[in-house]
Order: sequence, then structure tokens, then C-alpha cells
Amino acid sequence: MGLTIATLTLSHFRSHRAARLAFDGRPVAISGPNGAGKTNILEAVSLLSPGRGLRRAGSDELARKPESLGWKIRAETASPFHDLETFAEGATPRQVRIDGKPATQVALGRILRILWLVPAMDRLWIEAAEGRRRFLDRMTLSFAPDHADAVLAYEKAMRDRNRLLKDMVTDAHWYSALESQMAEAASQITSNRHHALNRIAAAQSGAETAFPAAALSLIGPEGHDTPKDLAPALADNRRRDMAAGRTLIGPHRADLSAVYTAKGVPADQCSTGEQKALLISLILSNARALAADLGTPPILLLDEVAAHLDQNRRAALYDEICALGAQALMTGTEPGLFDSLGARAQNVTVVEQGGLSKVTLT
Ligand SMILES: Nc1ncnc2c1ncn2[C@@H]1O[C@H](COP(=O)(O)OP(=O)(O)OP(=O)(O)O)[C@@H](O)[C@H]1O
Ligand SMILES: [Mg+2]
Repeated sequence: MGLTIATLTLSHFRSHRAARLAFDGRPVAISGPNGAGKTNILEAVSLLSPGRGLRRAGSDELARKPESLGWKIRAETASPFHDLETFAEGATPRQVRIDGKPATQVALGRILRILWLVPAMDRLWIEAAEGRRRFLDRMTLSFAPDHADAVLAYEKAMRDRNRLLKDMVTDAHWYSALESQMAEAASQITSNRHHALNRIAAAQSGAETAFPAAALSLIGPEGHDTPKDLAPALADNRRRDMAAGRTLIGPHRADLSAVYTAKGVPADQCSTGEQKALLISLILSNARALAADLGTPPILLLDEVAAHLDQNRRAALYDEICALGAQALMTGTEPGLFDSLGARAQNVTVVEQGGLSKVTLT
């Protein structure tokens, strides 16, 4: 077993006023009725990685209402020990402290690798590219924590370029520095993404798993890949981009395509259950690859995943998680969904009491 969360404390975070959980590294089965506060716990853990967490909520939404005083999540990790804190007061962006010192969100990603599946991702393969890109970047980040820096650098330069486009600036001089910054970040982003896809493909081949393999590839808008050297392409595209008021080419337009290998069918044409199975398969492959690369699997947040699987698939999922030794936090409305885990998991129940979540570790 690798790096895990040993204690988790939520203060004034959504429906939780003060919750403290102590974990021993086994998977955690969280059950309780609708609205009890189960997903809120997973969201709290997702905020121990860079970005806006599994609901993509703004910091102000996270503060417990009606007080809206600010919120705090604290986790202590085991082997090695770290004290991780993320918090916000009022509508300010969230802050991070690691071992008592102010730190960046990117630094969190160097400590904990966290992957998640939430019900909103059930339509990932059929909806807009943005969701798939986010899924791809979450996987990529798990292999290359510095990916977050490259994405931030790219987005910052692109925002500046988009401002020039909107202001109808035509002087090439204003563009060239920004476009080379974008090109440099873009080549890092694309190479990180390819690395992640290669590692996942390697982890799929020959794996003993009940979940279907998927062939993944990176495609650009209209099927074109991001140009190898983005700078000249951006320069060529200035007129078109100016008409659109934004940058139309680059890694921010990339898309992830998946084919259900055994059937040769694209993911968006698979059945609902098959699409879900592909996502689970990718998360598990990603986890196996990370375990091989780092000697420690990532933390998995699986929101309502058990409910959508038949009994055999569910048992297979639990077996694979246990074989990986991954700390998986899973939610379900019925404790019975986790029966086949038995003593291999810790059990947490969450109930709502007078507008507050009450959390019990059993
Ligand atoms: N900022 C907030 N302050 C107080 N309560 C909040 C806040 N944000 C969300 N909630 C409450 O948290 C509860 C939802 O919690 P959560 O989504 O974790 O439920 P759940 O146990 O996952 O339920 P389900 O089984 O339906 O998915 C809701 O009752 C919601 O009103
Ligand atoms: Mg929920």
C-alpha cells in the first residue's frame, strides 16, 4: 500500500460543520440516504488536488450555508506523512498549506494523485469535448503533476492573446511573444497527454480485468491533431481567430477518442453500461500504471459507481481495487451495495440531521 489519507477533517464545508474521519488505508464504503452528504466528502478529497474539484464548484459555493463563513479541508497523509490544508474565507480563491507552509495547488498534485468518476460523467463520451479533455487532463496530471503548470501557462498566454484579438490589434509584434509562450506550453501539454495515453495503453495490455479495454487517441478539432509547432500556425490563424474573437487551434481544442477494442465500436456508440464500463476500465488502468511507475496507486473517488454495476461486475471492481491496494472512497445509497467487500473495506455512514451531515465510521 502506498500514500493514503489517514485523517480527513471537514470544517464548515457544504453540509458538514465539523466532520473527522480516520482511515486505515483500506477502501472506504460510504453509504447513506440521498442528500446526506456523501458526495460532499468525495468532493472535499478531490480538492486535495489542483483544480476546482469533482463538481467544479467555485470557492464561495463550498462554504456551509447559511453562515457562509469560509471552509476548510484538512488531511494528514500516511507514509510519508504530510499535513495538507485547503481553505477559503468569503469569496476569495482557495488557498493551500502543506506542512504548515503556504503552497500552490500544483504542489498538492505532487503529493496526492487523485482520480474520480462521478455520475455526471456517464454522458462523457456523447457530450462536448470539454468534459473528455478534462478527464484526459486529470489522468495526465496523475502521471505528470507539472502538467498543471503547463496548462496554467498556456491558458494565461491564450487569455492575453484573446484580448488582443478582441481589441482587433493587428500589429504582429504584440502577438509573437505570446504565441511562442503558447507554443512552448502546448508542446509540453501534448507530450504529457501522449505519455499518459501510452502508459494507460501499456497497463491495459495483458491486464487481468473484468472491464473492457479501450483504444484511446488524441484528436484535434475537426479531426486534426494540434500542429507540432503551434507558433507559426497561430500566426497564420490570426485573421480567422480575430473574426471568431478567440483562439481556434491548440491543445485547448483537443479531444479524446475511445474505441471499445473488443467490438471495434467508438465509445459514443456503445450502450450506457458499456460506456460506464469503459470509464471504470480507464480509471483502473491508469491506477495500475501509476502503481507500476510510482510504487503507489492513486486515490480513487467513485461516486455511485457500485449502483450502476451488476453483482458480478461490482464484485470484480472491488477485487481489482483491493488487488491494487488503492484507497478508493466509494458512495452508495444502500450499505448492501458494499456487502461483497466485507472486512476488506472501512464503512462510513452519513445521515442528515437538522440540516447537517452526521458522519459515523463503523
Ligand atoms: N454550501 C452548502 N451549505 C450547506 N449545505 C449544502 C451546501 N452545498 C450543498 N449542501 C447540501 O448538501 C446536501 C447534498 O450533499 P451530497 O451531494 O453530498 O449528498 P449525497 O449524500 O451524495 O446524496 P445523493 O445520494 O443524492 O447523491 C444537500 O442537502 C445540499 O443542500
Ligand atoms: Mg451523491
